[in-house]
Amino acid sequence: MTSRRRLQGAAAVLISIALFSGARALGSGAADSTHAPDTTHTKSTLPVGDPAIGKKFFLKLNCALCHKADGTGGVRLTGNPTPNWRDAKRMADPKYNNDYLRDCITNGKSKSGMVAWGKTGQLKPTEIEHVIAYIRTFSAKK
Ligand code: HEC
Repeated sequence: MTSRRRLQGAAAVLISIALFSGARALGSGAADSTHAPDTTHTKSTLPVGDPAIGKKFFLKLNCALCHKADGTGGVRLTGNPTPNWRDAKRMADPKYNNDYLRDCITNGKSKSGMVAWGKTGQLKPTEIEHVIAYIRTFSAKK
């Protein structure tokens, strides 16, 4: 592939990303037939994350070391063990809404060994939204 064609390819990708996020921004708030309304997405003004992107960060940052690849958790270092994200009843509890998950990922839970991924700059706010969307897939109805 010539560098010119590669540039064109990159431009096409960027344009489709822009179009995609634009469509998402327009779609938010209105009834969306493909995505169920996200009632757990509360205070954040950021667009709802993409679970496929979230999964990449989850793997890259080794979240599974403590949370397990299947999200079942149960790993205890000090303090609280990692929760079971497959427990749909727990995950539907407003106590564990996206604001709570966002706060944990941003500020950590130092007593339990959960890292402050946001504060340390390892995950940016939009990336945290993607990770939250991925975490939600563990308890989503199949
Ligand atoms: C060293 C172990 C460890 C690693 C690695 C880790 N976590 Fe955690 N995490 C924990 C523990 C322990 C808790 C439970 C904290 C508590 O409730 O006190 C937790 C809690 C959480 C919570 C709150 C979940 C809930 O439902 O209550 C989220 C969200 C979370 N982690 C996301 C992540 C993400 C995303 C990563 C990777 C970027 C990650 N964690 C990596 C140990 C870890």
